[in-house]
This record gives sequence, C-alpha cells and structure tokens, in this order.
Amino acid sequence: MKDVTLGLVGVGRIGVMHAHNIASLNNVLNARGVNVRLRLTDVAADHARTVAAGLGAEFLPSVEALIGSGIDGLVLATGTGTHPELIKAGVDAGIPVFCEKPVAMNVPDSLPVLDYIRARGGTVQIGHQRRFDAGYLEAKRAFEAGELGWIHSLRAVTCDMAPPPVGFLGASGGLFRDCSVHDFDILRWLTGREIVEVYAKGSNNGDPAIGAVGDVDTALAVVTFDDGTLGAVSASRYNGAGHDVRLEIQGSAGSLMVGLDEKSAFASAEAGVGFPSGDSHQTFAERFEQAYRSELEAFVEVILGERGNPCTPEDAVAASRVADAAQESLETGLPVRVALAARAQGSRS
Ligand SMILES: NC(=O)c1ccc[n+]([C@@H]2O[C@H](COP(=O)([O-])OP(=O)(O)OC[C@H]3O[C@@H](n4cnc5c(N)ncnc54)[C@H](O)[C@@H]3O)[C@@H](O)[C@H]2O)c1
Repeated sequence: MKDVTLGLVGVGRIGVMHAHNIASLNNVLNARGVNVRLRLTDVAADHARTVAAGLGAEFLPSVEALIGSGIDGLVLATGTGTHPELIKAGVDAGIPVFCEKPVAMNVPDSLPVLDYIRARGGTVQIGHQRRFDAGYLEAKRAFEAGELGWIHSLRAVTCDMAPPPVGFLGASGGLFRDCSVHDFDILRWLTGREIVEVYAKGSNNGDPAIGAVGDVDTALAVVTFDDGTLGAVSASRYNGAGHDVRLEIQGSAGSLMVGLDEKSAFASAEAGVGFPSGDSHQTFAERFEQAYRSELEAFVEVILGERGNPCTPEDAVAASRVADAAQESLETGLPVRVALAARAQGSRS
C-alpha cells in the first residue's frame, strides 16, 4: 500500500467539505493500493480540532507545523487573499499543492505567483471542480466528437439560493471573480478557445449591504470568443428556486444542456409538463459533490505521478483575466478587450 498524507489548511465553508472528501478517498483508493491520511490546520484552532477529531485526522497548530510534519501534498482552502503566500510555502517545501480558486484576488496579484511556481518547478492544481463534473465532461466529449457541429451560442448560468455573508462578499473580488470565474474557466476548457471581449452589466435589487461593499447581487456578461462565437454568462445570489448551475450549448448540428436534470431549479410553464420533478439542488457542495471528490482523487494521482495537472495556475489565471475584464466592464459601463484589460493592469501578455 502506498501512503499519501495530505495537509489541509482552512476548514471553513469549503474546507470542511474537502476534509470529509479527503477522509473518504480511501473508499476508492484503497482498492488501487493507495492509503490517504489527513492532517489539518486552521487559525480557528478549536473548530479545526473538532473537525479533525470527527474524521480521525490529526490537528496541527500552524501551517509551518503542518508542512514540517512531512506531508506529501498541501490542500489550501483558506480565503483568496491568503493563496499567494500559502502556495509559495508549499512550493518552497517541494510538495504538490492543490489550491482553491482563484490563484489570487486579481490577475496582477497572480502573475508573480505564476513566476514563482515556474522558477521553482512547482506543481499547483487549482480547484476548478467543474472540469470533473460528469455533465461538463460529456458536453466536452460531444463537442470534440463533432456531434454538435459548430457552436453558435453558449449560455452559462451560476445562481446561489441566497448570498454568503456580506463580510465574505466584501473580500471576494465581486460576483464575476467569485462565481462566474467558474463559467469563464469551463467555457475556455470546453471550446479550447479564448474569450477576447466582455461586456458586463450588474444589478442590486437585494440586500443594499451587498452594494455597500462594492458588489452586485446579479450580473450578466456577454462574451465574445476569438472566432467570433458569442456567449452569455449570468449569475445571481438570489435564486430562491434552488442552486442553479447550467450550460446551454447550441451548435449547427446539435444542442446540449449541462445541469438539466430532475433537480433543476425551475418549473416548466407549459401545461402537462412534469419535468423536473425532484427537489432542486440547494448548495454548490451538493450540486458538485462528485466533482469535488474527483478533483481531490486527481490530486492524489498528480502527487503519485500518475497523471498530468488537470487545472494549471495558468489556466486559472486565464479565467481570472476574463473575470477582471468583466469587473472592469461592470465598473466602466464599456465593453473590455480581455488582453487589453490585462495589459492595462501590467501583464506581459
Ligand atoms: N471551488 C468552489 O466551488 C468554491 C466554493 C467556495 C469557495 N471557494 C474558494 O475557497 C476559498 C475559501 O472559501 P470559504 O468560503 O471556504 O471561506 P471561509 O472564510 O468560510 O473559510 C476559510 C477558512 O480558512 C481559515 N484561514 C484563513 N487564513 C488562514 C491561515 N493563514 N491559516 C490557517 N487557516 C486560515 C479561516 O479561519 C476559515 O476557517 C476561497 O478562495 C473561495 O474562492 C471555492
């Protein structure tokens, strides 16, 4: 049996879920001769101790102690602002790092991190979990097999049922960087094309406190790809019908909808239509349960040298460039060229 010890930093909203997923990896990996152990830390020590105890994991009092304990891979689930320094700490320790998206608060803050990783030959996998979701994988397969023909329109939706705490929103970089960045990533990944222009609008009809911290509760971005293909990316924090994440792909030969299942968060207005009939998805954790488990299984495979990196920091920063451009468009009211926006912010591309 090969032992792999993962060190998790941060057991907040998503970190707790990662902790449970890591603890359950042995259900599939033991059969492949791999045994995963979990150690974790959080500045909220009492909470982290409780999480560790509940999972039979080991609690360490600091990031330094965690890395110093001799782990094989570092999993980062702390707030976005801490990612650059923690990624560097993992790279300095010479171990592969899995870091939640995004690499940093914005592209200019991400570029020195990319340089640091490259200069030291580090391996950093970023947590764009939709790349592991069965529906998105099937859409990519169908598109690449030519079953859809050429794509004329893409419509991506990411809606939460209710906003996260305003304190989180104030430090999130805004709705495009926090939520739509997943759509920007998946659109690049699925089409193999770059988004070159974004025109974004936002609205604030919910809690005024969201506007007060500089964010919007609902947004729509029209994106143009490098071959002229058009897409629409919409997001909201107030989708009472359920957690709604979908992608509609319409092509010259066929159309597909990712996320259209019995738990879809809408009802048909047509008489006699009973679909969808199930309870809607409620949270991102539940909607992407399988994908979150699969991305960590992939991280163990990366550590073991069994596969390449499924989501590089460069991929993540490319999606963040689009998110930055969308935020700039939202603030200026003008369409923004993605590469030009990046250049204006000091990037080399
Ligand atoms: N992939 C996804 O679908 C998804 C979903 C939600 C959040 N995220 C990302 O995950 C990250 C965390 O988000 P969250 O909502 O879980 O945040 P959170 O605030 O709920 O949790 C962060 C945790 O990290 C701890 N922490 C912060 N700094 C620390 C440090 N230096 N050392 C140790 N512990 C530290 C905090 O005490 C807290 O428990 C963000 O970057 C966010 O963008 C990704």
